[in-house]
Amino acid sequence: MLFINSLAGTVVLLGQPQYAHARNLTQNVNMMYNYRQPLMVVYCSSGQDVAAAVAFAAQRRLPLCPRAGGHDSIGASICEGGVVVDVSGMTQINVLPERGEAVLEAGVRFSDLTAALEPHGMAALQGDCADVGIAGYTLGGGWGKLSKSKGLGVDNVVSYTVALADGSLVVANETGEYADLFWAMRGGGHQNFGVLTGLTYKVFPQVEVLTYNATWDAAASPRRAAEVLLTWQDRYLNKPPRALSLYPHFYADKSTGQQLLVMYVIYTNEGPGAEAELKRLVRPLEKLRPQSSAMQRIPAAQLEDLMDALEDTIHDASPPIGVQPALWELKLGQYVAWRLTLEQMRGIVDGWLSWPAFPNNYSGSAFTYAYFEGVEGAIVDVEADATAYVHRSVGFDLVVDTFFLSEAGNAEAAQAWLDELYGDHWASFLSGQAYQNYASDSYQPRRRALEMYFGSNLCRLVAAKRKYDPTQVLSSEQGVPPQLAGCD
Ligand SMILES: Cc1cc2nc3c(=O)[nH]c(=O)nc-3n(C[C@H](O)[C@H](O)[C@H](O)COP(=O)(O)OP(=O)(O)OC[C@H]3O[C@@H](n4cnc5c(N)ncnc54)[C@H](O)[C@@H]3O)c2cc1C
Ligand SMILES: *[C@@H]1O[C@H](CO)[C@@H](O)[C@H](O)[C@H]1NC(C)=O
Ligand SMILES: *[C@@H]1O[C@H](CO)[C@@H](O)[C@H](O)[C@H]1NC(C)=O
Ligand SMILES: *[C@@H]1O[C@H](CO)[C@@H](O)[C@H](O)[C@H]1NC(C)=O
Ligand SMILES: *[C@@H]1O[C@H](CO)[C@@H](O)[C@H](O)[C@H]1NC(C)=O
Repeated sequence: MLFINSLAGTVVLLGQPQYAHARNLTQNVNMMYNYRQPLMVVYCSSGQDVAAAVAFAAQRRLPLCPRAGGHDSIGASICEGGVVVDVSGMTQINVLPERGEAVLEAGVRFSDLTAALEPHGMAALQGDCADVGIAGYTLGGGWGKLSKSKGLGVDNVVSYTVALADGSLVVANETGEYADLFWAMRGGGHQNFGVLTGLTYKVFPQVEVLTYNATWDAAASPRRAAEVLLTWQDRYLNKPPRALSLYPHFYADKSTGQQLLVMYVIYTNEGPGAEAELKRLVRPLEKLRPQSSAMQRIPAAQLEDLMDALEDTIHDASPPIGVQPALWELKLGQYVAWRLTLEQMRGIVDGWLSWPAFPNNYSGSAFTYAYFEGVEGAIVDVEADATAYVHRSVGFDLVVDTFFLSEAGNAEAAQAWLDELYGDHWASFLSGQAYQNYASDSYQPRRRALEMYFGSNLCRLVAAKRKYDPTQVLSSEQGVPPQLAGCD
């Protein structure tokens, strides 16, 4: 094949020995979508390789799916019968400390970025889970523990380099010829307008962080847990100082089996007296008498280790890759229209506690946790139409993440529980919006999913699709179409 000869990277075809490995999503936990059979996986080593792969798929009218970190929540980066354009080998990073920027190839993962920035004493906004791709993360929004002060991933992108559907490579930024593409890819960029080959991302001097966490037994005292959540919402969420941010989590402690509500707090004030100041700031939480609490100073690069106790529990649950039954994951998250009352917070607690399995016994059941991602500070400074990411005037994203073994019936049971929680139990206080980086097959039909992800920005995305990919060289189950009723 001429195409293959012209690539600097490699191609793995269906039927070749390496295929089973190449086809699989590179996730260490969720194996749920690995059954799909693309025709080939193209491992690209440059922007030219990506452009050649796009042109190849376009000419033959084959489905085309880009893949970076491989963590898509509905497996959109493996396409049945298609061409997986895999950029995971493109991991070059050029740090420009004096500009406060780093130039990244599209395959860079969080851990690559942390490692490259650390010698420069720099850090960047990123999320949890070291092997998530910066590509998928920023193309869909990008929430991180420093978002209250630094905004979202999309707010930290300076420019994108993109292989368009016609096979050309262009630079899209705020002011240039492709400003409309830049707008669309900051939030609507998954598999819609072109394939990202690289990006310029903001970086900042590494800070020391003070962390604090406090735990409550939610099952023993659901009312107290609701009070903690209300206190978080009313006294901290989207309130100054921006150096202080809080992340409530629910999970089951692996040693005691207790259903914990954990409040993770980070404080980026490095001045003298920061510890005394943090102690003062968390007094409203201490008044709610946590069963344990702890304070610690860490470098920002270790922020991703903050929730290790929780993540260890998931990893303990994971059978080694390749062992059957495999671990599967289903998550659902929707934005909450604030402010909630104490009774509504109690409804969140009770809903979480209703998980129908043995939460701390993986041998036949499942593991689940839930988290609350605040929409606050620098996120809400930006207008909802400034980028395609639209969810800037809601309270928080309420996310439930379930893990279970791939035995028959488990996925259906987990899905039914999630659908009941969001579709019924919690429906009265949801905003009707959902985060496109936590995409779900629950949102049907496609138009409803698109409205939930893009809201008032949807028609502008349809127009960008018409301009940049009218024949749908890139298309996916939840992709933006070039025409949509009501958008002309
Ligand atoms: C363990 C875990 C932790 C997470 N933590 C966070 C978090 O803290 N904050 C947060 O905001 N999100 C978080 N996420 C969600 C994550 O940001 C999204 O799932 C993201 O889309 C994954 O990107 P990826 O590159 O790893 O995945 P992929 O599966 O490679 O890509 C995701 C989507 O983007 C498309 N895509 C990939 N590469 C390109 C490209 N080069 N050009 C165009 N489209 C492309 C894919 O086709 C797919 O549709 C987390 C997910 C997991 C599994
Ligand atoms: C913005 O992109 C255009 C091409 O679209 C490019 O010519 C220009 O140099 C870029 N601007 C900056 C500041 O990089
Ligand atoms: C809280 O922080 C302490 C100290 O850093 C740590 O040992 C503990 O595991 C943390 N608890 C949770 C639930 O993450
Ligand atoms: C690919 O994924 C399937 C399904 O989860 C699994 O059974 C298989 O062992 C994986 N193969 C490799 C090589 O990772
Ligand atoms: C785990 O659950 C199974 C039933 O699914 C039960 O037989 C077993 O005793 C449980 N193990 C533990 C350690 O709780």
